[in-house]
Amino acid sequence: MCPTGVDNIQACHAGILLDDFSPADLDDLLGYLQPELRGHSRRVGVCASLIAGYADTNLKPGDSPHGISYAAIAYIGGCCHDIGKLLIDDTDYKQHPSLGSRLLTKHSQTLFDNDVVAQMVIDVVSCHHEAPNGSGFPLHLAASNIPYLASICTLADWLDHHLYAAENSDVATVLCSLAESTGVLVFESVIDCFWQVHKEILEKYSFWSLQNPSII
Ligand SMILES: [Fe+2]
Ligand SMILES: [Fe+2]
Repeated sequence: MCPTGVDNIQACHAGILLDDFSPADLDDLLGYLQPELRGHSRRVGVCASLIAGYADTNLKPGDSPHGISYAAIAYIGGCCHDIGKLLIDDTDYKQHPSLGSRLLTKHSQTLFDNDVVAQMVIDVVSCHHEAPNGSGFPLHLAASNIPYLASICTLADWLDHHLYAAENSDVATVLCSLAESTGVLVFESVIDCFWQVHKEILEKYSFWSLQNPSII
């Protein structure tokens, strides 16, 4: 129940969990996700890491924290991207990126060994619904302010919704739709990288679709 006097449901849910919630580590935190969302998040992490592994040359090498690859950070970001949904109900859907980033920021010392990695993951979470044409949410960022790894996560998220979650998804139709959204949904270069690894990603989806339930 919301405390008396709190009339903003979003703030109420976030306030209660942010104040009372103390995850032991990242695995513990992700364990709080419902199985379906946990499966979605892990698949997004795997896809994002495959794309980021190919996209390394598009990322500034100087930004890469020593000892951890962009692919690894993309995986962690994908696993965490919807963590803000722990804090809200469906009516507050568009705030989940901001709430997720607040949750990770509050517990970053516990969840991450490296401050740079922590910030990159938090940026993925807060920006995974932003779009280069400014139509994204919740911040409506311009393309120049969207982190590259976040754009990779956006694509991986979109793919999972269309290749796994959507009923009657036809791969050819999905890929055609993706090609048409170049520059709108994600950076054009991210889609270029996807095409380089798309066979590997589609193979994983044909494997995952045989798994039951949606946890990989
Ligand atoms: Fe999301
Ligand atoms: Fe998602």
